Amino acid sequence: MNLITVDREKCNQDGICADECPARIIRMDEKEGYSISTPDFEDFCLKCGHCVSVCPTEALRLDWLGPETCPTIEKELGMKPEQAEQFLRGRRSIRTFKEKTAPREVLEKLLEIACSAPSAKNLQPWHWIVVQEPAEVRRLAAMVVDAMRMFLRASPEEAGTRGFPRVVASWDEGYDRICRGAPHLIVVHADKNWAFGAEDSALALSLIDLYATSIGLGACWAGYFYKTVNAYPPLSEDLGLPADHLAFGAMMIGYPKFNYPRIPVRNRPRVVWK
Ligand SMILES: Cc1cc2nc3c(=O)[nH]c(=O)nc-3n(C[C@H](O)[C@H](O)[C@H](O)COP(=O)(O)O)c2cc1C
Repeated sequence: MNLITVDREKCNQDGICADECPARIIRMDEKEGYSISTPDFEDFCLKCGHCVSVCPTEALRLDWLGPETCPTIEKELGMKPEQAEQFLRGRRSIRTFKEKTAPREVLEKLLEIACSAPSAKNLQPWHWIVVQEPAEVRRLAAMVVDAMRMFLRASPEEAGTRGFPRVVASWDEGYDRICRGAPHLIVVHADKNWAFGAEDSALALSLIDLYATSIGLGACWAGYFYKTVNAYPPLSEDLGLPADHLAFGAMMIGYPKFNYPRIPVRNRPRVVWK
């Protein structure tokens, strides 16, 4: 059995699919000159779809993916470097939100974009919990404050170094430093034993952050929130987090109340050139 099917009328035998296969399970058949998969493909294929999407003549199909399923890259949608730089450096963590909710389709779109992030072994390990209702976000933030109060009583010194007293005091004064009054919250979780869960999740959330900015939404990491999910069973149970999963990140989402007309300065790269 072959993993790939090659349309010989379309194939120009350029070997790009073999060159680009990260698992090296596509080879050019020496006799015929067309690509074939190696016998061990089932064990090693990453299901990344690169072979199908890189083929310039749409000649190659996998048993689960054809070129017609892979959206075309529209050249006219490409960004100029200056646009990319301003967009990437102009993204901000947003902490003041309008009292306006995003439609479900918009939240769905954020997740769809997130799922195109790179992930180790292309495992795409992400699971999502989307808190859609502002009142529910606030209720969950209150649970984080409950957990902080407990921790403050049990380990005041460590709680102090983690900044809990100020967060709790803000809450008592009516300001939410956990979710910043955001109307929505997106939590990403994955198998706790997956070695790259943290990296894969951070990358997916980063795409949410960036895409949210591009459509006029604002996002901010909710660090206190997801760290508490993993440390405070009443919260993880309330969210329905599976026992063998960890929350690897959470992001506040909403419409920004203010615009940033300038880009703040960041540290220069600390680098050793070798
Ligand atoms: C892992 C992580 C956790 C964070 N947790 C919080 C948080 O709990 N609350 C918050 O207001 N900002 C949080 N932030 C946002 C950072 O404070 C912010 O990225 C930083 O100040 C730089 O600002 P910028 O994102 O606008 O460049 C977090 C960021 C990261 C990467």
